[in-house]
Amino acid sequence: MPLAIRQQSCSAKPARFTDASAITSCRRHQLATELAGKHVVLGMTGGIACYKIAELTRLLTKAGATVQVAMTDAATQFITPVTMQALSGRPVYTSQWDARIPNNMPHIDLSREADAIVIAPASTDFLAKLANGLCDDLLSTLCIARDCPLLVVPAMNRQMWMNPATQRNVAQLRADGIELLGPDSGAQACGEVGDGRMLEPEAVYEAIASFFSPKTLTGRRVLLTAGPTFEPIDPVRGITNRSSGKMGFALARAAQQAGADVHLVAGPVGLETPWGVYRENVQTAQQMHDAVMRAVPDCDIFIGVAAVADWRVDHVADHKIKKTADRAIPSFSFVENPDILASVAKLPHPPFCVGFAAESGDLDVHGEEKRKRKNVPLLIGNLGPQTFGLDDNEVVLFEATGITRLPRADKQTLARALIAEIAKRLPDANVIA
Ligand code: C5P
Repeated sequence: MPLAIRQQSCSAKPARFTDASAITSCRRHQLATELAGKHVVLGMTGGIACYKIAELTRLLTKAGATVQVAMTDAATQFITPVTMQALSGRPVYTSQWDARIPNNMPHIDLSREADAIVIAPASTDFLAKLANGLCDDLLSTLCIARDCPLLVVPAMNRQMWMNPATQRNVAQLRADGIELLGPDSGAQACGEVGDGRMLEPEAVYEAIASFFSPKTLTGRRVLLTAGPTFEPIDPVRGITNRSSGKMGFALARAAQQAGADVHLVAGPVGLETPWGVYRENVQTAQQMHDAVMRAVPDCDIFIGVAAVADWRVDHVADHKIKKTADRAIPSFSFVENPDILASVAKLPHPPFCVGFAAESGDLDVHGEEKRKRKNVPLLIGNLGPQTFGLDDNEVVLFEATGITRLPRADKQTLARALIAEIAKRLPDANVIA
């Protein structure tokens, strides 16, 4: 791609693992229908983290899920059923004797409707009850009566979490096939610091969304590049491009949700790391190349989404290039950057390689030409001006057998569709959905 259409500066963020604590409102906006048709019974037990469940309920309903809240008596001490009813848009159940259920069996009826039961926050006492099959209130009874998956989100003081009895119960819950989300570590409401803090609502949301996704890439290791690169010309300036990283990050999230182990090599973008994804930050094309070549022996699929700069200046000035008295215009000579995708594709045992092409026109011609030149089985083409920085995109898949067009959709939806398409094309594909 020409450098001229890729001018934009971005701020880099430090590398980190699995930080879903600050998913942007922009990203939430994109999740509009991700959980459409899913019915979640959200069980709340007593703990100060109950206030976080108001936000979790909003995230779930915004994503299209229906949420049926059930609360223990202790939970109602922390947040009212009125609040939870208003946020979920459904009456809240707190008692197994609730006469609103015609057959007076709320423990059966509520759990039969559910695609999953999520207990958040899950108190020490509730973990103990679940581990031992006790059922003396509506929530514990509907859990034991369930015929759907159960996910629990512990929230408690660090000493309560570390107590051997709690750890025994947690081990038992895992052995019983119950999914534990968290806990997190950090400052606690009691003033202490340690393990036991409830995951932030955004992280719980991400884990639930991941849980519901078809596992088309279980056991696969996916390496991706995303975003622009930044090629310095002096200590304060450089050449970059208009790639936002949104498509690559959406693909990393979709691959993680499909069950893959995901390693994301990101150029300088200000996007949050998708839940469960390992992120490595780089600046230059050479650094991106080196990071990819280090990681590629461990991967099954390589997806080069990054808009990598084709050239860098051959000498980076040690100090800021200043205007001179005679106002001489500086000149630069360039050297070519390594082609990361082509380097991976020509390895003796390459992973399944997927390239991207951002063109400004004649996509059908350039896409197939680029696929052949890069020697990759699949190349995904899009038109640069119609994708850079936007939340939606439309793409064309180029492969030896022909082309497939995917219609315009938000990048999260498109990413899920692309991951499903990639999963189908793996040499030893064993596609579930
Ligand atoms: O040649 P062009 O930049 O259009 O090719 C696009 C594809 O090649 C993308 O998948 C991109 O990530 C990859 N690429 C690369 N290294 C480069 C240039 C492009 O991996 N130096």
